[in-house]
This record gives sequence, structure tokens and C-alpha cells, in this order.
Amino acid sequence: MKVVVLLGAPGAGKGTQAPLLSGRLGIPVVATGDLFRAAVRDGTPLGLEARRFMDAGQLVPDQITVRLLLDRLARPDAEAGVILDGFPRTGMQAKALDEALADRGAVVCAAVLVDVAAEELVRRMSGRWVCRAAGHPYHEVSSPPRVEGTCDLDGSELYQRTDDRPETIRARLAQQLGALDDVLEHYRTSRVLRTVDGLQPIQDVADAVAAAVNGAGACAD
Ligand code: AP5
Ligand code: MG
Repeated sequence: MKVVVLLGAPGAGKGTQAPLLSGRLGIPVVATGDLFRAAVRDGTPLGLEARRFMDAGQLVPDQITVRLLLDRLARPDAEAGVILDGFPRTGMQAKALDEALADRGAVVCAAVLVDVAAEELVRRMSGRWVCRAAGHPYHEVSSPPRVEGTCDLDGSELYQRTDDRPETIRARLAQQLGALDDVLEHYRTSRVLRTVDGLQPIQDVADAVAAAVNGAGACAD
């Protein structure tokens, strides 16, 4: 089982890069933010609980998030491996993932940080539009869709996330960057952390992410 973790601050480009890497590696993307947004849209009890935290720019508590992720990893399409976007976000989540993978004889073979400066994060999130069907991200200046308001990949409508309002963007950056440091430290210790410059054009970032994964010995099989 090949497990690659994409790390980065809110708005760094994880959701842009994850499908590109998925196309190269042939394994699916699992994005906890997308799973939570689907639960919110469906009005499930989990969605109602998660929404309170998401709208406040806070992380959803570890217990809820870990259960959601492990249920998703148990599905058959995750057997050969996954690209994780937005998980783990805390040291506790990183440990829980390691333990669950150890039960299957697997490890995180690469954790790739898409590194982007804070001012640019605000610009990226405030101009972002995502599609209803699959959350594919666009940017009104740097990455517009071919037809305004419509996803290039699946034709669904584009909308702006409620947590991309200026005050929520500020809250997300203020409240989540500290936890990201703990996750970086976790993967530095296990020697699978790689960093790519996320300020490059999207395709160049994609090439750097792929090179980082291919260069990680544990990802080869
Ligand atoms: P989540 O959906 O994961 O949001 P996030 O981490 O805040 O990250 P974003 O999706 O905002 O950014 P991204 O890195 O995917 O950037 P994107 O590719 O879209 O989580 C949402 C919420 O759910 C959290 O706040 C939390 O409440 C909860 N949650 C989720 N997971 C959790 C967990 N594990 N634990 C606890 N709570 C959790 O790109 C951004 C913009 O930039 C786009 O417009 C894009 O077009 C543009 N762009 C991308 N790359 C480039 C480039 N190279 N050059 C120019 N523009 C670019
Ligand atoms: Mg995302």
C-alpha cells in the first residue's frame, strides 16, 4: 500500500496538486476537507458537528477526523494506496495514521510540503472558486476555468467556499499553522519529509511533487 501525504498551509495548493499526482501514481485522493464538505452538504450529524469548527476556521477535533479518515481508508479503492490531502493536520492524527497503517504492514512513504508564503495564501484563497461535483479548485486570476462558472473537468457549477471569507481565512491561518509545524516535525523525525517550492506555476509544482515522491525510496515498489 503506497501512502503519500500532501502537506501545506490552508490555500497552499494541496487540492490543486492532489489530482495531478493521482493521475501520475494511479491511486485515489482522500481529502478530509472534501469529506467534511460532503457531510455538511448532506446534512449528516457528522456534517453538522464539523460545520461549527469549519465555519470558525478551526480544526475539527481529532477523534471525529481520525474516525472519518480510517473509515475512508477501509474502502476497497484505497487498498493499493492513497494520496492524503489535508490529513494529518495534528501530531495526534499523524500518530493515529502510522498506527493504522502499521496494522496493514504499511507506512507513509513520502510527506511532501507545498511551501507557500503567508501573503500569497490569502491571495489564493480569496480568489478561489471550487466545483460542486468534486471540489476541483480554480483561481479567478491565476487559474481561471475555460468557461466562467463551470468546471473544466466535470462541467459542474463553481462556487466560493464559506470558509474563504476574509475573516475566516484569517482565523484559519492564525489557528492552524501551529499544528502544521507539529506534523512537519513528525515526518522530519521519520525522515520522509520533502519540501517543494509552492510559489512556482502549477505544472512546475506538480513536477517537483512527483520528483519528491519518486525520490523517496520507500515509495518505490
Ligand atoms: P481543507 O479543505 O483541507 O482546507 P485547507 O487545508 O484549509 O486547504 P485549502 O483547501 O484551503 O487549500 P489547498 O491547499 O487545497 O489549496 P488549493 O489547491 O485549493 O479543510 C477545510 C476545513 O476542514 C479545515 O479548516 C478544518 O476545519 C476541516 N478539516 C479538514 N481536514 C481536517 C483535519 N485533518 N483535521 C481537522 N480538521 C480538518 O489552492 C488554493 C488556490 O490557489 C486556488 O484558487 C488555486 O487555483 C490556486 N493555486 C494553487 N496552486 C497555485 C499555484 N502554483 N500558483 C497560483 N495559484 C495556485
Ligand atoms: Mg483543499
